[in-house]
Amino acid sequence: YVLGVDLGTSAVKVSAMNRDGEIVAQQSYDYPLSQPHPGYSEQNPEEWVSGTTVAIVQLILEDHIKPEEISGISFSGQMHGLVLLDENNQVLRPAILWNDTRTSKQRAEIEDKLGDKFVEITKNQPLEGFTLPKLLWVKENEPNIWAKAKTFVLPKDYVRYRMTGQIAMDYSDATGTVLIDVKAGDWSKAICDAFDIPVSMCPPLMKSIDSAGHVSESYALFSGLDTHTEVFGGAADNAAGAVGAGILSPNMVLSSIGTSGVVLKYEEDPTVDYHGVLQFEYHAIPDSFYSMGVTLAAGYSLNWFKRTFAQDVSFNDMVASAGDSTVGANGLIYTPYIVGERAPYADADVRGSFIGVDGTHQKRDFVRAVLEGIIFSFKDIMDIYDEHDKEFDTVVAIGGGAKSPLWLQIQADIFNKKVVSLTNEQGPGMGAAMIAAVGLGWFKDFQECAEKFVHFGKEYLPNAENAKKYDQLHKIYGQVYNQTKDLSH
Ligand code: XUL
Repeated sequence: YVLGVDLGTSAVKVSAMNRDGEIVAQQSYDYPLSQPHPGYSEQNPEEWVSGTTVAIVQLILEDHIKPEEISGISFSGQMHGLVLLDENNQVLRPAILWNDTRTSKQRAEIEDKLGDKFVEITKNQPLEGFTLPKLLWVKENEPNIWAKAKTFVLPKDYVRYRMTGQIAMDYSDATGTVLIDVKAGDWSKAICDAFDIPVSMCPPLMKSIDSAGHVSESYALFSGLDTHTEVFGGAADNAAGAVGAGILSPNMVLSSIGTSGVVLKYEEDPTVDYHGVLQFEYHAIPDSFYSMGVTLAAGYSLNWFKRTFAQDVSFNDMVASAGDSTVGANGLIYTPYIVGERAPYADADVRGSFIGVDGTHQKRDFVRAVLEGIIFSFKDIMDIYDEHDKEFDTVVAIGGGAKSPLWLQIQADIFNKKVVSLTNEQGPGMGAAMIAAVGLGWFKDFQECAEKFVHFGKEYLPNAENAKKYDQLHKIYGQVYNQTKDLSH
């Protein structure tokens, strides 16, 4: 077996998979998020280690997975979270997570100091959620802790360290620190120097499929695992999610709807320049990359709508009611900026809107407008690919958007592309297991592994008439941002 550890923000899920790509057992463990002040979001790294360990112990004891049959382990990790370690690799403070926004001042400092040069080197903007602004925050606000800091890692790297005793970070997650010179494929001395961060603090880099050694004796005693089990680098959750959804070539794009939404494209060429409008990261697949745009309130928009206006119906019934509205929701448009927006605007202050409200509109039109508005925001990212002559023919839909045939068809019509879902969707944990399977040499590459592990379901093809209508509506949708961005709230 291989174990895929999906270290998320609210829980860790560990999946045991066999060589045929089947899930044999799965265990998860929830942990809390601490928000001591507005905008703060922290977690205790020890919770990740104990949660992962409890899940592994349960796989062994309850699901009877024999430790000697576990050949490899790898990871998918929540990105960007700062784990600061002292000279004995002891955790110095709670981890500051990807969704922590205390760092606006540091973001501005980075932008003022390096401007376009920063994006040129890292291929990303220094957004609040990323790791460098968090390092600068600790440096400015907690000098005593900073003085003791010897190195830093990301969440899943810390769990890997506790399993193996080796400190390392894989390229896909490291790009999200925005301290990487992407073209050079190494830590950027220029950025470290500009902000007075010793390059020696940056951990050794490894590929996702590289071995990080074996389960250590102490962790074997702690977890019940065997010391022959090999541990592999693993990847950022978006990279692992892309692997698990079969995004392994440039003609595939991912459309993922969780709380936030992600449009992600496999990229071969690191010289493509999206000017930081899209995030650009190393993929889990050696020598390849991905770009992605994030819609902050995707599933969150629908949850908000349900909580506020549709508590009396089930989620599925609410979504299905949109089928009784029309293409274009009878003229109603929704922009999903209810907690600000990341791509393409990187604007934390803009807020959402319903435009074109008519006295005859019913609740189902509002539901339909929300479903369409989320996909219009994804279409903004697809349009950036068009502008860069990036061609692709298939969109793989995962998450909430893949659960409803209606929403899948809306995606096909708005993107004007073929949309497919997966029959065995497992999220990033599957990608993590695939990384271990390829690392172990079970398969010669990810393509071969995906033939066993990734199964595509029904194809949804665009309806030409609907696609034309949505194209016109998307142009109107695109004007709403500029007209509303200065409204105070
Ligand atoms: C990506 C990002 C999130 C986290 C969630 O930049 O911040 O997708 O990776 O875990």
